[in-house]
This record gives sequence, C-alpha cells and structure tokens, in this order.
Amino acid sequence: MTVFIDRIIPQIGLDLLEEAGIPYEQHTANNELSKAALIEKCQAHDALLTAGWGPLDQEFLQACKHLKVIALHSVGYDRIDIQEATRLKIPVGNTPDVLSEATADTAFLLMLAVSRKALFLHKKIIEGKWGFSQPTDDLGFSLTGKTLGIFGLGNIGYELARKAKVAFNMPIIYHNRSSNQKAEQELGAKRVSFEELVSQSDVLAAFSTLTAETRHKFNASVFAKMKPSAIFINASRGSVHHEPDLIHAIQTGQIWGAGLDVTDPEPMDKDNPLLAMPTVAVFPHIGSATREARDGMATIAAKNIIAASKGERLPYLVNP
Ligand code: DGY
Repeated sequence: MTVFIDRIIPQIGLDLLEEAGIPYEQHTANNELSKAALIEKCQAHDALLTAGWGPLDQEFLQACKHLKVIALHSVGYDRIDIQEATRLKIPVGNTPDVLSEATADTAFLLMLAVSRKALFLHKKIIEGKWGFSQPTDDLGFSLTGKTLGIFGLGNIGYELARKAKVAFNMPIIYHNRSSNQKAEQELGAKRVSFEELVSQSDVLAAFSTLTAETRHKFNASVFAKMKPSAIFINASRGSVHHEPDLIHAIQTGQIWGAGLDVTDPEPMDKDNPLLAMPTVAVFPHIGSATREARDGMATIAAKNIIAASKGERLPYLVNP
C-alpha cells in the first residue's frame, strides 16, 4: 500500500507509517490542492491521509473508488460524503478524543475573551488608542455563576463544561438527543429542551456536528430568543450559525457578543463587520492546534492507515 498525504502532518504520524513499511508521498507546498489535482495524486496511490479542506464528494469518490482507506486528520467528517464512501466500500477514519481538551480550551479562551472584550482592547493598544479612561469604560462581565449552555454535549462539550465548573462554578445545561450521564453525575449538568437552552444560557456554546439538521441552526429566530447579555460560542463548524443573522443580532443588541473558532466561509473576509465589534473574538479554526492534539491526530490517522493495510477494521472508523 502507498499513501498520499495532502498536508504536512506531525512527524510522529510519518514515523509510524515508515515503521510499518508503508511508503508515502506528501504534498508539502503551502496550498490546497484542487479537486482535480487531488484526484490525480490519489489515482497513483492506494490510500489518502487528508488534513485538507476541500469536499470529498461523490465526484471525488467515484474517481478514487480504488482507495483502500481514507484517513481524515480531523474529528469532523462533514467534508466527506460518507454514504457514498460506504456504498463504494471505502473505509473512512477520523481522529476523535485526542483533540477534545485543546478544542475545549479554545472555546474557554473565546468565552473569556468575549466577556472581557479582550481582542478589541488589544487592538486598541496596537492602534495607539490606550489613553484616558473612566472607571465605567470598557467593562465586561464576570463569568462566575453564569449559566453555560451546550448544544451537542460530547467529549469536547464535556471538557468545556468541566473547566467552566471548576474555574467559574458555572451551572451547566445542555441539549442533546440522548442524555450524557457522565456530565449529569460529575458536573450536575441538566438536560433541557432546545428552547430552554436558548433562553436560559448566559454563554451558549455549539459543538454539534454539521448535518442537514444543524446547518444554520443558530439563526435570527434563535438569536432573538437569547438573553441580550448572552455570548454565543461556535467551535464546531461555521455553518452551524447563520453569519449575517449573527452580525445583525449583535449589532441590534439581541445578544452581547460571540466567540468564533469557525466561520462561514473560511477564511473569513478581513472586512467582515464581526471583526470590528468590541464583543467579538474570532480565531482562524485553531481548535485542535496544540502540539499534543496534533501529534495525537497524526498518530491515529497513521494507525487507521496501518490497520487498513493489514485488512483490519480501522480503530476509529466513521462508516456506519
Ligand atoms: C476537526 O478535527 O474536525 C477540526 O475542526 C479540524 O478540522
């Protein structure tokens, strides 16, 4: 088996492939391959390890149906047509768990940054605007005792809830299809309806996977029901919120602000009005960007490839 790798991944993953005697070709230029170029590369290999952004849609999968495995270097798998991959009997792997802590830290940082207008005030200094200020200027609010609401409480949501509980004693409410016993028993988290989540949260964090059902779930009608003092956090996928509606909700004071690690589209345009708002913090999709998490992701992605090379079930299989 030979593997095509479309980004520079941590050495630990490459070492594992080498130890297993699996040759690879790695795209090391700083650009995203076009779909046609990716297809051409994959046609010369038996497996794909991918950290790219582009859609692995029906057209791609049809052109690459010979692939023995596709190992995603991400936990999210919304960019691949999983139904089609399954129909073509291509096993698809992802990298869960190892990035939960890093992604939760990112959400925690966003929550604090927005509550204290941190990025806006940092920018003010860079612009030479640190001057006279009144004790009533630039006020944020304390997170202590405020209610954290989580939409999609899985491993990442649990980690954020745990940190928020310890740091700020935040009561936790969540909305999931099924209940999360661990969060309920260890953190006293309470499962509520979507309507209750929206109306009761002081910080509302979305961690759901992107599906037809969750696309634009956070839109004008939802923002209108949130507290005017609330913060919306998204560290899942940009299109879980409707960006023009979010801009409008903050501009009109329907909600206090937002912390986004993901935007729609990505990269965000530098003239996006959100970037000029005092109560907004935006990161360029860096949820899992710690050395520890990225090493873990490269390790799991390599292990998924190695398992497939031996005809074994992938340790982290996505196909149903
Ligand atoms: C993930 O692992 O899904 C991250 O969002 C990176 O895409």
